[in-house]
Amino acid sequence: MSQEPLVTKPASGHWSDDYPELGRGPVSFEDCVSEEFYEKEREHVFKKSWLYVGRIEQLPEKGSYFTREFAFAETSVLLVRGKDDVVRAFHNICPHRGNKLVWKDDPFQETEGRAPVLFCRFHGWRYNLDGSLIAPTRKDLLLDFEADQCQVPKIQCEVWEGFIFINLNPKNTETVRDFLGELAHGIEGYPFAGPHQVYKFKAELQCNWKIFMDGFAESYHGPYLHAASFGNLSAAAKTALESPNPFTDALAYQLKGKHRMFSFAGEPSKKSDYSKPIECVMEAGATGPWNKRNNLGPMPAGLNPTRSPSYGFDSFQFFPNFVIIFGASGFTTHAHWPTGPHSHIIEVDMYFRPPTSHKERLGQELTVTFLNDIILEDASPLEGMQAMLNSRAVKEFHLNDEEILVRHLHKTVADLVREGEQGGGVEK
Ligand code: FES
Ligand SMILES: [Fe+2]
Repeated sequence: MSQEPLVTKPASGHWSDDYPELGRGPVSFEDCVSEEFYEKEREHVFKKSWLYVGRIEQLPEKGSYFTREFAFAETSVLLVRGKDDVVRAFHNICPHRGNKLVWKDDPFQETEGRAPVLFCRFHGWRYNLDGSLIAPTRKDLLLDFEADQCQVPKIQCEVWEGFIFINLNPKNTETVRDFLGELAHGIEGYPFAGPHQVYKFKAELQCNWKIFMDGFAESYHGPYLHAASFGNLSAAAKTALESPNPFTDALAYQLKGKHRMFSFAGEPSKKSDYSKPIECVMEAGATGPWNKRNNLGPMPAGLNPTRSPSYGFDSFQFFPNFVIIFGASGFTTHAHWPTGPHSHIIEVDMYFRPPTSHKERLGQELTVTFLNDIILEDASPLEGMQAMLNSRAVKEFHLNDEEILVRHLHKTVADLVREGEQGGGVEK
C-alpha cells in the first residue's frame, strides 16, 4: 500500500465542501414513504443496476446452482455454474408452460444444490446448464416447434472479485467493473477468495431499504444508539457532546459516481481502554479477532485511504444496495432487498479465515454475537422511524456534515428515477 494519503479532509473541516452538488440544507425522505416512488425505484434503479446476488464459493462445481427470490422484480433468479465453468443467471421459469424450474419443498423458498441438467418436474422437459433445451418429452406432439426458440431466459451475469452480479436490464451495455468504478478498483486484490468461515444473518424489517443503508452510512449515532454495546467508549464520547468525536467522526468519506465509502478509526480492532473483559480474554471485538489484518497479506491501495495509524475499518456502499465492510480480520457484506415501499430484507454475511485454534473460533463467535447485537440495535429504531415518516408530520430532515453519505444515496436514487422517467441516461 502506498503511504501517500488518497483522501484528506477539506481545510474548512467540512466534507460537504468537496461535494457542493449535495447541498447542506434539509433533505426530504418522501422517497422512503411514497408508494408511487417505490414503483419508479423498482423500474429505474433495481431493474437497471448491477445487483450483487452471491459469492462464487456458492457455486463450487460444474452444475452447482442456487436460487434467489426477488420481490422487487417479481421473479426468481437461478444462478448456475455451467459445464464450461461459466456462471450464468436465468429467470427460474420453464419455457414450456411457465412452471418454476428449480425449487425444493416450497416454491417461494430459495434453494441450492447440484445437478447435471435443469429438469422441469411438470412435464419432464430437460435443459442444459446453459439454458438450451436438451429435449422436450413427447416431441411427436409438438407442432410448429423450434427448439432454439425454447430456452430458459437468460439474465446478464458477471463476476467481480468473486462477487456474482446480475443485471435485469437486457439493454445494459456496461460491465459490472465499469459500473462499480473507481472505489471498487481500489479494493481489487483484497483476499476475498475462500476458504471462508461464514456467518449469516437475515431478517425482514418493516422499513424502506434506504433507511437501513443510511444507518450504516455514518457513525455519528454510535455513542447514542449503541450505548449498550459500546459501553465505556460511548460514555467517554458523550462527555464532550459539542466536540469532534474521534470514536464516531469518520477518518474519510469518498463519493465516486453512484458509490460511496467511509473509513473509520480503529479502537474496536484492538485492545483499548474501553475493551470489555471478555474481549480481552478472547482477543476479539466488534470488528473481528484483533490484529489479524497482517495475516491477510498486503492490503489494496483503496483501503485506509487516509493512511491513518488509528485506522479500524472501511465501509463501501456500492449502489444501489450492496455494502462491503472490511474489518480487522475479514470482511462483511450487507445486501438490502426491497419487498415493498415500507419493508425490505437485510442479509448480512460475515467472512473470516477458517480458525486455526479453538480460541480463534470462539473469538469469531464473540465478534458475530457483537455484530448481531449491533445490527439489531441499528434496526431497533427503524420500524418506528418508518411509521413516523409515513405520518408526513415532518417533510424535511436536517442532516449534518457527517451524514453526507445519506445525502448522496437519496440524491443518486432521485437522479436515476428522474432520468429514467425522462427516458435516458440510466445505464451509467
Ligand atoms: S412446464 Fe416445464 S415441462 Fe411443462
Ligand atoms: Fe450502527
